[in-house]
Amino acid sequence: MRAVDLFAGCGGMSRGFEEAGVDIVAAFDNWDPAVATYRRNFDHPVYKVDLADVPGITQLLSDEFSPDMIIGGPPCQDFSSAGNRVEMGRADLTVAFAQIVSNVRPKYFVMENVARARNSGAYADARAIFKEAGYGLIETVLDASLYGTPQKRKRFFCMGVLGAPDNFAETRPEDLGADRPMSIRDFFGDSFGLEHYYRHPRNYSRRAVFSVDEPAPTMRGVNRPIPKGYPGHAADSHVLDEHVQALTTAQRARIQTFPSTFAWDGPKTHVEQLIGNAVPVNLAKFVAEYITSYVDASNAKQMEDFNEWLTQHLGLDHRSASDVVSRLRRANGLVPLPAEANERYLNALSASAGFQALGVSIRSQLRRAAILFIQFCEADQQEAA
Ligand SMILES: C[S@@+](CC[C@H](N)C(=O)[O-])C[C@H]1O[C@@H](n2cnc3c(N)ncnc32)[C@H](O)[C@@H]1O
Repeated sequence: MRAVDLFAGCGGMSRGFEEAGVDIVAAFDNWDPAVATYRRNFDHPVYKVDLADVPGITQLLSDEFSPDMIIGGPPCQDFSSAGNRVEMGRADLTVAFAQIVSNVRPKYFVMENVARARNSGAYADARAIFKEAGYGLIETVLDASLYGTPQKRKRFFCMGVLGAPDNFAETRPEDLGADRPMSIRDFFGDSFGLEHYYRHPRNYSRRAVFSVDEPAPTMRGVNRPIPKGYPGHAADSHVLDEHVQALTTAQRARIQTFPSTFAWDGPKTHVEQLIGNAVPVNLAKFVAEYITSYVDASNAKQMEDFNEWLTQHLGLDHRSASDVVSRLRRANGLVPLPAEANERYLNALSASAGFQALGVSIRSQLRRAAILFIQFCEADQQEAA
């Protein structure tokens, strides 16, 4: 499955999707520190571009990448509880994301945002664009602490599958979370190095000292040191003494479930911002596995339907039909089948080194299987239209 990551930041979402086996082929962001850090951690290209340029990005993605999936987390300042809650220009990037998806028409997409984005006007517009383009949606708010991350962090995900009904998967993602939130100690054992730590509150009506025996609060984009005048709070897990420290940048990155080998680039304030912006790697990995297991199940079903079409519409006997299906699987091993196979697939298959290395007769069998599959996909699309 070939995917591109829009608004990729330092690559939390990309990393989680890669860990789930998705092939990220390109990433896009317009902020130099994000691009620099991303580049240090991934082999595929990252482009510094303004994603508000919907026509330009549409053309680039369609011509260069033809992705099966588009993933991305448009910036959330204008919905976030950290912001002023007034929707301004930046929220339009959520709409830009939807426009790019609806123009490029990948079979799948995943969009992430802060929980409150779900009720925003910008999301209502984006949602209408997804629906108009023919995507079935699963919309959900997930708390990272129930998905392998020692942090309370609620994020909204909208997952889309072209041509599918809404709520296309059998199981809801909320039903696959853990029974209880993950604490810092659950994740790190006793290696975290602190029992209690300070996280600067938005105001002193909120507590600031947390225990490692609970999930961390949401990692934000700014990491303030302990101020002189902190008055204390009744709900603090410990009095603020010399044992309590503010989290380091490295600890915050690990709480976001980045591996300790992840390389950060740039001054501390930029790195803290990149960390606070990111989708926790383990949460992204869960979402990617959720959608890829749906894709695997629906691909298996598609092969069954293809087999049936070969026997019922083309009159092949069962043995010949299953030979065609196994040759198609072999072709898929050489060049992965796109979600909707077409002439481009046949050309890519014929040009591939693995295909060229085969004998003449097997090459013609594989081509025939691919041509039949393309006809099947076209018949399927006509039926759906
Ligand atoms: C919420 S962060 C994405 C975090 C990322 N998904 C991750 O998991 O690390 C949003 C990103 O959008 C980028 N961005 C904001 N406006 C943009 C624009 N007009 N074009 C491209 N990228 C933009 C920001 O630089 C930021 O890195």
